Amino acid sequence: MSESQGRIGVVGSNMVDLVTYTDRMPGPGETIEAPEFELGFGGKGANQAVAASRLGSSVMMVTCVGDDMFGQQQIRNFQENGIDTSHVHRVEGKSSGVAPIFVEPSGENSILIIKGANASLSPDLVDQAAPALEGCDAILMQLEVPLAVNYHTIAWAASKGITTILNPAPASTELDVAQLAGLSFFCPNETELATLTGMPTDSDDDIIAAARNLIAQGIEQVVVTLGGRGARLVTAEKVEEIAPVKVAPVDTTGAGDAFIGSFAHYLASGADAPEALRKAAFYAATSITRRGTQKSYLTPEELERFSL
Ligand code: RIB
Repeated sequence: MSESQGRIGVVGSNMVDLVTYTDRMPGPGETIEAPEFELGFGGKGANQAVAASRLGSSVMMVTCVGDDMFGQQQIRNFQENGIDTSHVHRVEGKSSGVAPIFVEPSGENSILIIKGANASLSPDLVDQAAPALEGCDAILMQLEVPLAVNYHTIAWAASKGITTILNPAPASTELDVAQLAGLSFFCPNETELATLTGMPTDSDDDIIAAARNLIAQGIEQVVVTLGGRGARLVTAEKVEEIAPVKVAPVDTTGAGDAFIGSFAHYLASGADAPEALRKAAFYAATSITRRGTQKSYLTPEELERFSL
């Protein structure tokens, strides 16, 4: 059966990634030379939007850019990736979001974010986009914009029966679970799950107990990503194991976003959640075999040719 084209709304962030490839991280007070630097488009919201769009979903973005050179470039990048920019707002007097990123030879990354204009995204701007968002099969969110935006979007989407996916990254101790009632899919990693629930996540049983704690508070399903151990889909009734896909890492930056964006794409294209997650795990793995964030995301044709 061929997949139908889904429509996805992303209510979230965009950043310009300032990526330094370094042999090691400097210590306090130390200056070292790094061999390479690259500028790229990033931000968890934008990355997820690009992954879904590149796979063939119709994607709209609700986000804020600054009134600087980076803001213009972000809008052009969305357009070049086929993303609807009708609800991308330029905020006067604000800089665009930027993210200095350091990638070590192991492929591991360290990221700082400066939110800039992303901090100006508001529930009002979500309301302005509501008529367009109403036509979406799924709405994606992350935590690089004010929490009030996520709470408002989740409550509104739940009232319309629209599937919502929240990726609670970067982790925030301020996230209020009571405001997430009605959320369809909550997708933390094990550290984010522990931060949010205050419960241990050392074993599979711990993870399931912590996820079910969230489900008891009104979240429908929890997808816990476990790095090299794959992921677990936890519902009130069952637990589905999503096996890891092993590749040699080159750059892990944006792999989590590739996972979430492609999960939304596969779900909106008609796959059930376990199947969508298995395909997303494969898509995310392919992204870590290449450098960069958005530029590491494959098209369906490249995906077909990819062999492990
Ligand atoms: O998840 C990776 C992303 O985190 C980067 O693109 C960076 O911009 C930060 O938002």
